[in-house]
Amino acid sequence: MNELLTERVASSSDRRLLSIGVILASVREGRRGEILAKWVVELLGQSPDVHAELLDLRDFELGAWTERIPELDAFVIVTPEYNHGYPGELKTALDSLYNPWNHKPVAFVSYGFSANGARAVEQLRQVVGELRMVAVRDEVNLRVGAYATNERGFPADQGALRSARAMVEELLWWGRLLQEGRRQRALTTAPA
Ligand SMILES: Cc1cc2nc3c(=O)[nH]c(=O)nc-3n(C[C@H](O)[C@H](O)[C@H](O)COP(=O)(O)O)c2cc1C
Repeated sequence: MNELLTERVASSSDRRLLSIGVILASVREGRRGEILAKWVVELLGQSPDVHAELLDLRDFELGAWTERIPELDAFVIVTPEYNHGYPGELKTALDSLYNPWNHKPVAFVSYGFSANGARAVEQLRQVVGELRMVAVRDEVNLRVGAYATNERGFPADQGALRSARAMVEELLWWGRLLQEGRRQRALTTAPA
């Protein structure tokens, strides 16, 4: 490793801002997902050095998406289950890009009736693998209308909160690891 590179890599231990996009996959009128996505943004924002923002697929526009996704380090997909799958709008949004998803972690919050949205997440795990994303094992699966909420409508159920904490912890760990990995890879493959 040359001197310049050693110096650049050494400075890599600096704490960097981790920017996380929370993708709200339902675009339906009266959607239940909106409050959950806002909850996730708030949860993430409680961690130091984390910026979290809502990516509402109702506002999906290819130009803005193409500009923003490369800037983000990690994602949470908040998805309902529709006919044992996930919304078509989400597939379109994921398929619209390739490289900007690569080597970034993604976590899932799902909701539905009979399986709490878990079937939608299982399908998504296949899709994000092809996008070279790292799917976080810990996830939140909520039964619509059956979990406790606080005065803001956010989940207050102990089990859900425990799952959410585990999910966030894993996402941040992978997020920082892969942020550094991408950075070092960019340094080592940069033209001399
Ligand atoms: C077209 C459609 C299909 C659905 N299919 C399923 C399903 O297969 N399994 C399930 O558990 N819930 C199913 N549901 C229930 C949804 O998961 C639930 O209504 C949820 O609130 C939808 O998310 P949204 O309100 O954010 O759009 C379906 C709902 C819709 C509208």
